[in-house]
Amino acid sequence: MTSERKATLIIEGHEPQEFPVLTPVHGNECVDFRNLAAKTGMFSYDSGYMSTASCRSAITYIDGDKGELLYRGYPIEQLAEQCNFLDVAYLLKHGELPNTQQKAEFENIIKTHTMIHEQMARFYQGFRRDAHPMAVMVGVVGALSAFYHEAEDFTDPRQRNINFNRIVAKLPTIVALAYKYSMGEPFMYPRNNLSYTANFLHMMFGTPCEEYVPNPVVVKALDTIFILHADHEQNASTSTVRLAGSSGANPYACISAGIGCLWGPAHGGANEACLKMLEEIGDISRVPEYIRRAKDKDDPFKLMGFGHRVYKNFDPRAKLMRKICAEVLHELGLVNDRLFELALELERIALEDDYFVEKKLYPNVDFYSGIVQKAIGIPTSMFTCIFALARTVGWMVQWEEMISDPEYKIGRPRQLYVGAPRRDVPSLDKR
Ligand code: ACO
Repeated sequence: MTSERKATLIIEGHEPQEFPVLTPVHGNECVDFRNLAAKTGMFSYDSGYMSTASCRSAITYIDGDKGELLYRGYPIEQLAEQCNFLDVAYLLKHGELPNTQQKAEFENIIKTHTMIHEQMARFYQGFRRDAHPMAVMVGVVGALSAFYHEAEDFTDPRQRNINFNRIVAKLPTIVALAYKYSMGEPFMYPRNNLSYTANFLHMMFGTPCEEYVPNPVVVKALDTIFILHADHEQNASTSTVRLAGSSGANPYACISAGIGCLWGPAHGGANEACLKMLEEIGDISRVPEYIRRAKDKDDPFKLMGFGHRVYKNFDPRAKLMRKICAEVLHELGLVNDRLFELALELERIALEDDYFVEKKLYPNVDFYSGIVQKAIGIPTSMFTCIFALARTVGWMVQWEEMISDPEYKIGRPRQLYVGAPRRDVPSLDKR
C-alpha cells in the first residue's frame, strides 16, 4: 500500500528525488526504490539484503524484536497448540483455517496421494548408500519435474492446487525412502489409515516384519516440529525458491533449489551442526571453553543454534521446541539425557554472557530440534530433511504468491562491479 508520505533522496550533484513510502499491515515501512535507477542512474547496494524487502507478501509475519511469528495473522503458539500440520498447510495455502468439511477433504486428498511413482522409487538405487540424504532429496524432488510436466502450467489455479497437494503428500514418502535406502531396509508403503505424521513415522521406522505403532506423544511432537518449520517469511531458501521460480521454471525444480539452499549450516543445516557441536563439547565442564571460542574473533567457531538475522529478542519457535524437547525426553524415559543437560547449561551460560547479550544472540529453533529428533530415533544426517519436508509447504505457497502477483517480474539483482577495468586481450607472448 502506498501512503501519502514520500521519502526525499538527496545525492550530491543531483536534483533531490522523491520516492513513495509503502505502509505494511505490520512491520517496517518501505521506501519504494523501484524507480531509483530510472530517476538517478544509481542502484541501491545491499548485499545480504540487510534492509531490502524483496517482495510484498501476505503469508507470514515476523516481529524480531517482540519474538513474534504469525502465519496468516495467527500466532505460532496458538497454531501449535490447537492445530495439526495439515491444518497449518491449508491455512498457509488458502489464507484461512479449514472448517470441518474442508479439513476432512484436504486430509483425504493428502492421504490418498502419498505413493510415489514406482519408477521414481527406483531412482534411489542410483545413489551411493552413504550419500547425504539432503543430496538425495535435491535429486529426487528435482526429478518430480520429470514426472509431472503439466506442473509447468502455473497459470492455471487448479493445476497449482494439484502441484501443492501432490508435493505435500509425497514429501514424507520421499524423505522416508531416503532414510530406508541409507539403512538398506525395505521401502515401506504409506498407510492411509494413519495421520500425516504418524504415517511418516511408520514409513521411517516400520518394517514388513512387524506392526509399527507410533507413540502419540512422539507423533504430536513431530507434528509440532513440522508446524514450527512450515514457513518463515523471506529467508534464504524461500528467496531461492522465489528467484528460481521467477524465471517460470518448473515448481518442483524450484523446490529442489530451495532444498539445496536450506542444507547450509548457516540455515537449516544448523540443527545437524548443533547436535554435532553438542557431541563434540561432550561434557558440561567444557562449556566455558566453547563459549570462549565462540567469542574469539580469530576463531571461526560459532555457537550453532544461536543467533538469527531477524529475531533479536528470542525465537518463539525455540521456546516451543524447548518445551517439546522436555516432553519427548520425559515420555521416552530420557530425562537425564546428556545432550539435553549440556544444551540447557550452554543456553544458561550464553544467556548470561555479555557477548551474547550485547549482540542479541539467543537460541534459535535449531538449538533444541536436534535433541528431540535424536530422541525420536531420527539420525543426525536426516534432521535437515525433516525441516525441508515441513518448509516445502511454505516454499510452495510463496512460489504461488510470487507467480500470481500482477507485479511479478523475473528476479534480476544488479551489482557493484569491482573487477578489472576494461582492457584488451594481450597477445600470448605478452601475457
Ligand atoms: N556464535 C558466536 N557469535 C555469533 C553467532 C554465534 N552463533 N552468531 C552471530 N555471532 C556474532 C557474529 O560473529 C557477529 O559478530 P561481530 O558483530 O563482532 O562481527 C554478530 O554476532 C552478528 O552476527 P552476523 O553473523 O553478522 O548476523 P547475521 O544476521 O548475518 O547471521 C546467523 C545470523 C547466520 C543465523 C548467525 O547468527 C549464525 O551463523 N548462527 C549460527 C548458525 C545457526 O544457528 N543458524 C540457524 C539460523 S535459524 C534457521 O535457519 C532455521
